[in-house]
Amino acid sequence: MSKNDTVTLTDNATGKQVELPILRPTCGSPTIDISSLPKELGYFTYDPGFVATASCHSNITYLDGAKGVLEYRGYPIEQLAEKSSFIEVCYLLFHGDLPDKDQLDEFDDIITTHTMLHEAVKRFYSGFRRDAHPMATMVGVVGALSAFYHHGEDIHDPKHRMITAHRLIAKMPTIAAWSYRYTNGQPMVYPKNSLSFSANFLHMMFSMPTEEYTPDPLFVKALDLLLILHADHEQNASTSTVRLAGSSGANPFAALSAGIASLWGPAHGGANEAVIRMLQDIVDSDNDVAHYVARAKDKSDRFRLMGFGHRVYKNFDPRAVIIRKTCMNLLAELGTNNKYQALFDTAVELEKIALSDEYFVSRNLYPNVDFYSGIILLAMGIPLNMFTVIFAMARTVGWISHWNEMIEDDDFRIGRPRQLYLGAETREYVDIDKR
Ligand code: ACO
Repeated sequence: MSKNDTVTLTDNATGKQVELPILRPTCGSPTIDISSLPKELGYFTYDPGFVATASCHSNITYLDGAKGVLEYRGYPIEQLAEKSSFIEVCYLLFHGDLPDKDQLDEFDDIITTHTMLHEAVKRFYSGFRRDAHPMATMVGVVGALSAFYHHGEDIHDPKHRMITAHRLIAKMPTIAAWSYRYTNGQPMVYPKNSLSFSANFLHMMFSMPTEEYTPDPLFVKALDLLLILHADHEQNASTSTVRLAGSSGANPFAALSAGIASLWGPAHGGANEAVIRMLQDIVDSDNDVAHYVARAKDKSDRFRLMGFGHRVYKNFDPRAVIIRKTCMNLLAELGTNNKYQALFDTAVELEKIALSDEYFVSRNLYPNVDFYSGIILLAMGIPLNMFTVIFAMARTVGWISHWNEMIEDDDFRIGRPRQLYLGAETREYVDIDKR
């Protein structure tokens, strides 16, 4: 190892030094391997929120926050959004390369024929309250699938892992749509094999046994695009959760359920729902955008501009750029009198004001993936509380691809962060009558 491939860390108290190797990625920032630090110097490192820490190495997704770059397996998101389909992106993320025609047909066929749920699963739904948030139902039902796929499943067998991936990708839309149908007291609609992945989801969401239903091709296309854009995003909170939960060798359905729980939070996937509530509030306040911008800047107010800011993107979120354009085109197709135009116009106004405001500019706060996606979903007739569910449906392939990668990694071991303990020092137990 040459001197250029290490950094030297000196403990000023003792003068002791340690050479730490620099790991060179295919793209992105070089990374210092600190794993020898506890043994060599007796130190841990401290990095709340993983701001500077790579928790693993990965070959799946690359993003450059300064340049606004996002690539799945090396393919720019803009090209995938324009030319690919969600099902092809699923193959790409899980297997590592774009499929040829036969591979794609076979994969599509496998996913299509794994969409059914065990009939017993249907009965789970009636155990939930009717007003349960569909994300709560998703956490429960996906976790419960571990009761169906456990014995006989070997996570160290690549074939078993692949079947698990197929099951999860295929069944998630059925679980998601049924979460919605249950809260509405509507009959569960079974999947239809003649439909594409996205058309089938709309069919399970909106069709009635009493009437013919043909999913609108415009909505099918928009949904497929949203699924592509949400399919993976390297080591975000929910993906890291799946990896950590799965690192103990836990059942993958249970690990995915933990990922869904993590995604639900408003600082992560739950933001798309919060954005619409915020935009609606602004519209209802006679479009007092300035008031909401002022609130977002006021440190004594917990309010934040939802759909703004990102831990990694500090220039622009490439997904937001694509979604904004798609949203504009979709609303134009629906005609200028559509009821979502006001939300879109307010979002554009908010973006304009925020992007010229010193507070947002100096903190590199830009619209993220969630800022415009909700308007598209609303226009498709998707209710607010299903937004994050659709995100989970898309991200399933990312979660399971990372879980698969983690298990086949030679460095794979249980995830076990350390801590900086700031609690009480050792003290004697005091009997209750003496306290
Ligand atoms: N509105 C107002 N101020 C903000 C916002 C916002 N949306 N986001 C960040 N800031 C400010 C913070 O107050 C902080 O200011 P300070 O330096 O004066 O204290 C600074 O910008 C940095 O913010 P952090 O919270 O430290 O940034 P972090 O990287 O931890 O958080 C996050 C990123 C969670 C996305 C944050 O920007 C946020 O809460 N945004 C709104 C919620 C949202 O849209 N989430 C979706 C993210 S995308 C996704 O998960 C799919």
